Amino acid sequence: MTGSPELRPLGETLGTEALGIDLSRPLDDATFGWIERAFAEHPVLVFRNQNLGPAELATFGRRFGGPRIHSLVKYRHSEYPEVSWLTNVDADGKVDWFGVKRATDWHTDSPYDDDLPRLAILHAKEVPAAKGGTMFADMRAAYDTLPEAMKQRLARLVGLHGRGDGPAGERLYNGDLERQTDRDYAEKAHPAIRIHPVTGRPLLFVNPVHCHGFVGMDKDEAWPLIEELAAHSTQERFVYYHSWQVGDVLMWDEAATMHRGAGDYEPRERRIMLRTIVYPN
Ligand code: OGA
Ligand code: MN
Repeated sequence: MTGSPELRPLGETLGTEALGIDLSRPLDDATFGWIERAFAEHPVLVFRNQNLGPAELATFGRRFGGPRIHSLVKYRHSEYPEVSWLTNVDADGKVDWFGVKRATDWHTDSPYDDDLPRLAILHAKEVPAAKGGTMFADMRAAYDTLPEAMKQRLARLVGLHGRGDGPAGERLYNGDLERQTDRDYAEKAHPAIRIHPVTGRPLLFVNPVHCHGFVGMDKDEAWPLIEELAAHSTQERFVYYHSWQVGDVLMWDEAATMHRGAGDYEPRERRIMLRTIVYPN
């Protein structure tokens, strides 16, 4: 490491730039430790002007835990299965409409998987001229600002998570997720309030794409509650909008934040990123 890296806030909340790190080179332990400490406090961390191939992105991700193959078969990288594409362009160069709408409502990744991911990383290769950002909501702040009675209610609730079958998931995907996977995912139960494994902070862990109910609660009661919690969590004061630049490597904490594609760009403009998702070791 030459010189010490620095942090620079990108706005009022969440988004933080890490300056002075070249991720194409092997990360020495001091730099890695610095990133880990920064990430614990700043769960959306951005490294600008990087140029990584899939192997390098996978190597960076592996420093933080175990990589995992993503559920969407079509977007897996052919040589590096732990890396996948985020793209709105089909093999024949036309607009990939599933790629355009994918992930454009609030979620955390893969809560239907066998265990919960720790973090995910996106690396922008081609970005629209305007908009096409990714939004992040601070689920620490979302928890902290809940009314006391709601905190107590949620402390007893266990959320049920599937593949896009929550209220926002149904609106977004309308059932067309099923054709995209090569295995079935059983519903998974996660307490509505989680304790962050690194920082020990309480977090609201309910998202409207994947969470479709709570143990022992009717849908009539659960869906309005899920929507209410989503509205609470995504108030402007808790949200960071990341405007992508080519070369950005952005890592986010899958416990401390929810995210979504803003879904606000012109679909005929290319938007292509590499992505990897990392699970605790
Ligand atoms: C993701 C995701 C949103 C976007 O990669 O997990 O949700 O902005 N991406 O495309
Ligand atoms: Mn996602």
